[in-house]
Amino acid sequence: MTDPKPCLVLLGKQGAGKGTQAKRVAAHYKIAHLSTGDMFRSQAALGTAFGLEAKRYMDAGELVPDDIVVGVIEECLAEGGPLSGGFVLDGFPRTLHQAEQLTRVLEDGGLDLVVNIDVSREIVLDRLAGRRVCEDCQRVYHVNLPPENPWNCDDCSGRVEQRADDHEEAIDRRLELYEIETVPIVDYYRQQGLLSVIDGVGEGDEIFERLTKAIDSRTD
Ligand code: AP5
Repeated sequence: MTDPKPCLVLLGKQGAGKGTQAKRVAAHYKIAHLSTGDMFRSQAALGTAFGLEAKRYMDAGELVPDDIVVGVIEECLAEGGPLSGGFVLDGFPRTLHQAEQLTRVLEDGGLDLVVNIDVSREIVLDRLAGRRVCEDCQRVYHVNLPPENPWNCDDCSGRVEQRADDHEEAIDRRLELYEIETVPIVDYYRQQGLLSVIDGVGEGDEIFERLTKAIDSRTD
């Protein structure tokens, strides 16, 4: 075991369930969950210059430029920062450059495991079309699995809405960019012996069990 608290990355296509599962993994291992997408959306909602710039890219399904993203992550990973007691990264890295920068920032052995949640394109298209997200706490729902009181979040009563980038054009562009920019990362981590691939199809509880099994077998 390299660290008492696991340091993890979740990879997978848009809609693979990274956000859904990362929240559960973070609660289970008592580690920080960092979703770059959530962070950009919160900043956009606050109207900061950084958030509004990120929103222009996100709404079109484009990636936020590497230099902006890497700078933010580097701050979070600094000693004493929010990620210094174990973490699960969701949505970062998603280009080879970002993965190399993460390796640079973390010391040797800084990552315990990278899990790729494998789901077909057909399934993610259906999931993204039906996804609804709480504007306040970012909890993720689906039209087939809504909050008890539609459409107010079960956790915080915030408004649950469709994400601005869950429209057909942006979804196509995000999936295209995934193949071009993110798939090479899978090989990068495989070559480092850090990769585990799990089947992302099934009930949420089943996926969570597959994930924790992969994590525990690495960190025990
Ligand atoms: P981000 O917020 O990361 O969005 P994404 O990449 O499009 O990923 P998703 O959030 O769509 O997918 P997910 O795997 O988290 O799925 P979820 O759990 O919600 O990024 C948004 C944008 O920010 C990017 O496009 C980019 O512009 C920018 N950005 C972020 N990071 C960046 C970076 N590092 N570099 C550059 N730009 C960056 O699940 C999807 C749906 O499926 C939900 O409705 C859920 O309820 C449902 N579901 C989940 N699990 C299951 C299951 N097992 N069975 C059935 N349904 C399920």
